[in-house]
Amino acid sequence: MIRVLGICGSPVKNSNAELILKDALKAIEQDDVQTDFFGVQGKSIKDCIQCNWCMGEQSKEDFCAVRDDLQELYPKVVKADALLVSSPVYLARMSGHLASVLDRLRCVHYGKHWTGGMKHKVGAAIAVSWYRNSGIETTLTSIHWAFLTYQMVIGVPGSLSTFGGAGLTSLAGTGAFDVKDKHQVLKDEYGLNTARATARSMLALAKIIKAGKRA
Ligand SMILES: Cc1cc2nc3c(=O)[nH]c(=O)nc-3n(C[C@H](O)[C@H](O)[C@H](O)COP(=O)(O)O)c2cc1C
Repeated sequence: MIRVLGICGSPVKNSNAELILKDALKAIEQDDVQTDFFGVQGKSIKDCIQCNWCMGEQSKEDFCAVRDDLQELYPKVVKADALLVSSPVYLARMSGHLASVLDRLRCVHYGKHWTGGMKHKVGAAIAVSWYRNSGIETTLTSIHWAFLTYQMVIGVPGSLSTFGGAGLTSLAGTGAFDVKDKHQVLKDEYGLNTARATARSMLALAKIIKAGKRA
């Protein structure tokens, strides 16, 4: 069984980042794949304050001294073989909400109990932007930096899009929009395909790594 956890970093309800992520998770539905979802929307998520409690006091069940909605995320992350992380583009990088989540996962890698807990999980990134050329790739790589720091292995889609899933939320990325359609990403078939391909590549890597660990 491969466990895939989707993490969405948009604070918007029914966001484009969530829709493209859920579509990509659907694309890898198989008998031996279990998917789960965590979104920042409506959640109370504080920043990491570098209190270093996790480094000195952490136990198997108690990951982090900061008490908020991330307490429900930690066990999901520990169980996951792969993380598919989706963000809106904010100033050409991931959202601050998502950055807080990824910062807080420090306790699953550098914590007293969970030392190296992120190592060799597969990570893959999806981003949605308003404009075609205004930071989508830098956003994808900003997520990759977190994966690299946690010694994760990165899944990318190949020729469709070098760094990950890339969806547009204005009409063809021009900035023009239909005021009645808040879910424009669902009309960006090419973008949806880049995210599906990202998820498939992530899953293939996760299977290889799991089989390698078993061997
Ligand atoms: C603070 C902020 C910064 C943004 N910066 C960019 C940007 O640099 N480039 C861009 O194309 N869109 C930018 N946008 C637009 C969002 O990326 C875009 O609306 C996205 O589709 C929102 O996705 P969501 O529906 O998943 O929240 C920004 C939006 C906000 C709120």
